[in-house]
Amino acid sequence: MGQCPGCKEWNSFVEETVEKTPHMGVLGSADRRRNRSTACSLLSEVQITAENRLKTGMGELDRVLGGGIVQGSLTLVGGDPGIGKSTLLLQVCQNLSANARKVLYISGEESQAQIKMRADRIGSFSGPMLLLCETNLDLILEVIREQKPEVVVIDSIQTMYNENVAAAPGSVSQVRESTGILMQMAKGMGVSVLIVGHVTKEGTVAGPRVLEHMVDTVLYFEGDRHASYRILRGVKNRFGSTNEIGVFEMQEQGLAEVLNASEYMLSGRPENASGSVVTCTMEGTRPLLVEIQALVCHSNFGIPRRQTTGTDLNRVNLLMAVLEKRAGLQMAACDAYVNVTGGMKVQEPAIDLGIVLAIVSGFRNKALSPKMLAFGEVGLSGEVRAVSMAAQRVAEAERLGFETVIVPWVCVQDCRRNSSMEIIGVKTVQDVIDRFF
Ligand code: TYD
Ligand code: MG
Repeated sequence: MGQCPGCKEWNSFVEETVEKTPHMGVLGSADRRRNRSTACSLLSEVQITAENRLKTGMGELDRVLGGGIVQGSLTLVGGDPGIGKSTLLLQVCQNLSANARKVLYISGEESQAQIKMRADRIGSFSGPMLLLCETNLDLILEVIREQKPEVVVIDSIQTMYNENVAAAPGSVSQVRESTGILMQMAKGMGVSVLIVGHVTKEGTVAGPRVLEHMVDTVLYFEGDRHASYRILRGVKNRFGSTNEIGVFEMQEQGLAEVLNASEYMLSGRPENASGSVVTCTMEGTRPLLVEIQALVCHSNFGIPRRQTTGTDLNRVNLLMAVLEKRAGLQMAACDAYVNVTGGMKVQEPAIDLGIVLAIVSGFRNKALSPKMLAFGEVGLSGEVRAVSMAAQRVAEAERLGFETVIVPWVCVQDCRRNSSMEIIGVKTVQDVIDRFF
């Protein structure tokens, strides 16, 4: 087909040969029939054994995993090339092997010497860590059966191939088939497998998205290539909560955990600059303080420019319309640029009040106290609505030395309970503007 009937893109189809006899994985169909248990059980009688978790030695990673690597689980670590996936997993191997866990690091991308060079950068390795540079899955399985490691790292799934599939390594069918084989091996032998997957921008080469439904846990490693911090985000987790994040910093000796993420996000904040407001967002169960900056200036063009980095443009347009209509600010002829600093991407509605304050502060050119922060959702009538976990957000702000916090009116009681900060409840955006501008 020349044109894709779905996306109308031309010449995007890639030919792939489909086998006549579908491959059944490592077990033959006869084996499967024999192994299958056909008896069903009563739900109330099913016994659960606490799953066996291996601590990776990196608190940030353990939290995202839900407390450690589950025995016999399949974890996919996705991310852009060069973001630090290999480095992260090599450090996991370093920690695990230092605790006398047998780990096998399989690389299809780098030579042993290259891995050794990276390992030397990271630090000293002791304990039973094995290295294998191989891309043929049959040979890899043989080695795993022979060595019986507890944890296996596959770097990366796009380089692995199975001889029974005619397609090229990295193609959708190879990647899917290889993962299926690794999954059977993991579940069958109780080996925990960590798989690296590259996400490609074009999406023509099979990205790890094909695999998301097959594996137990999907983590994405993201961050600005030019900045040093990295965020590890749980997208799917059969053994824990998703939406937890871990924050790391890429240093000369590998990745370092950033334990105090809020402080890190706020470092270098300008004092007494207009258009800068701190707000609090929840990342999973963790409150995270971020700075929002807004620049509002007269437009030289008929249609003003509105731009955002790190937050939703439509949301900013909506909030500016609310300010225009409900608080009478004449911003229709103004350009507006809104930026969440630190490279974080924040979508939570609770940052609305922070955006509103930053825009008004930028528009009026009046700085707010640097010891103040604000959070709350803003509705279309200009009302400031309740947000979840208000008390935790206030506690985080107090910990970082903030003195005043602006919260939705309905959350005030909840926030005052455990806090000695000055807590200001507001009902509408008009309230906030009257009070601070
Ligand atoms: P890498 O783990 O190779 O990325 P991926 O496997 O996701 O493709 O990391 C690549 C970058 O990390 C590379 O640009 C060099 C940098 N780096 C450091 O800054 N410090 C270090 O200690 C290491 C090992 C890498
Ligand atoms: Mg790599």
